[in-house]
Amino acid sequence: MAAQRIDGKALAEQVLAECRTGVDALAARGIRPGLAVVLVGDNPASRAYVRNKVRACGTVGVHSEVVELPATASQAEVLEVVRRLNGDRSIHGILVQLPLPSGLDEAAILAEVMAAKDVDGFHALNRGDLLGGHTRFPPCTPAGMMRMLDSIGAKLSGKDAVVVGRSNTVGKPMGLLLLGRDATVTLCTSKTLDLASHTRRADVLVVAVGRAGIVTGDMVKPGAIVLDVGINRTADGKLVGDIDFGSVEQVAGYVTPVPGGVGPMTVAMLVVNTIEAAGG
Ligand code: GUN
Repeated sequence: MAAQRIDGKALAEQVLAECRTGVDALAARGIRPGLAVVLVGDNPASRAYVRNKVRACGTVGVHSEVVELPATASQAEVLEVVRRLNGDRSIHGILVQLPLPSGLDEAAILAEVMAAKDVDGFHALNRGDLLGGHTRFPPCTPAGMMRMLDSIGAKLSGKDAVVVGRSNTVGKPMGLLLLGRDATVTLCTSKTLDLASHTRRADVLVVAVGRAGIVTGDMVKPGAIVLDVGINRTADGKLVGDIDFGSVEQVAGYVTPVPGGVGPMTVAMLVVNTIEAAGG
């Protein structure tokens, strides 16, 4: 039987509807949450993501602004923008869209974002809090996936959770969030010797590599929950995730589609974090 799809678009709309309540409560205190996005260069995918983030803010009454810098911007120029936003009282959340053009020191720029405005959860202080098991700003993509798991009533305690991909933005924080719910967590990397031997054990399988088709149906445990973070474009321009959807769908219990899966949840959780930063 084909897996049930977890509809990220519908769930994100539900989360954004809850956000509206938060925005109204803040309005009663005279606060309008504000998000600033720093976009350096002209990466078309980044531009599309930023557009989605701005649109989501608009739908719930969160103020947003995009500060655009050319790909040739210097480290000092980017840092100057971040410092100005740190001091801007109308801005509660700051997001530096990644990846940054080569030549810029990403770690130094993320470190400059004031921790209290770090709605991406990428500042070392917030990452440290996550390691400690509690954080005000969980990174948006992993936080969105946890909401998806909760939406289907997934029981995580004691279960095998396997995360393929150990990026700082998705894989590592997702591993920590799953660990926080008492799952038995395995993080796989591009060096993992026998990937299928790990993925086949997974009750919850998160795939966040950026390579289409890396997980096929024969690598999935029957009934598993499979969350696909990948966004890849095929030669004929089609948007696909990291899993071979057709074969995985035949084996898994639940699966997230691409598009309309994890992506919209990332955006919704950014709005949640921005409202939190504003005091909501
Ligand atoms: N690029 C891809 N995903 C993300 C994200 O979650 N936050 C930021 N800032 N950049 C990204």
